[in-house]
Amino acid sequence: MTRFKRNDPEITRRKFINVAMGTTAAVGGVSLLSTLGAANPVFRLTPDKMPPLKGDLLVHAEGSKEGRPVRLEDLSIQLVRAWPMGKNENGEDVIRKGDPNNILALYRFPQGQLVAPTNLEATINGQVVAYSDVCTHAGCSVSDSDVNAGEMRCPCHSGQYDPKRGAVVTGGPPPRPLAQLPITQQGENLVVSGFFLTYPYPFTSKEEWESHIQEVEEQLA
Ligand code: FES
Repeated sequence: MTRFKRNDPEITRRKFINVAMGTTAAVGGVSLLSTLGAANPVFRLTPDKMPPLKGDLLVHAEGSKEGRPVRLEDLSIQLVRAWPMGKNENGEDVIRKGDPNNILALYRFPQGQLVAPTNLEATINGQVVAYSDVCTHAGCSVSDSDVNAGEMRCPCHSGQYDPKRGAVVTGGPPPRPLAQLPITQQGENLVVSGFFLTYPYPFTSKEEWESHIQEVEEQLA
């Protein structure tokens, strides 16, 4: 599991709040932060808004199996969308779809097709891989409609990614690859084994993401 630097004096708590709430600095953020600042709240993420956490079970996000665990046999070179599911304080299952940016894209490729810069240690048997399904350009959900099997395309501005090569950008305006989520196998199910390896949308830098992880870990401690 990737470890992260813990401190960055340039990252403010307000910036973290802004990102975690899924807002932008330009739209609505100012009034939101004014309100938060005036109330001086203790900010806490509810379990449904937590990012994917180690131990979370991946469940189907759509279709007839929505809400049920994704099984290895469900996966292929066709994109399968999933949510991470964890527990709340009472030990009850919570699907973390309170933050729409937690949506994931899963693939299972034949042995040998997943290659660098995919982090193969963060895959299952070098075949099953999980990425953020949120486009790094402006946050649309990335799809595999209207492209060849095993390719990805964003419907908003035609961004393209290669899921066999670490979801690198192969066309269009996205500024960086989709973030890869480390996963492991538990029986026939898929389980999260750590935080995203690189910063996912809507974070705008590695430092913001690391600060977010720090806040999450402090809340969970
Ligand atoms: S939001 Fe995906 S290419 Fe613009």
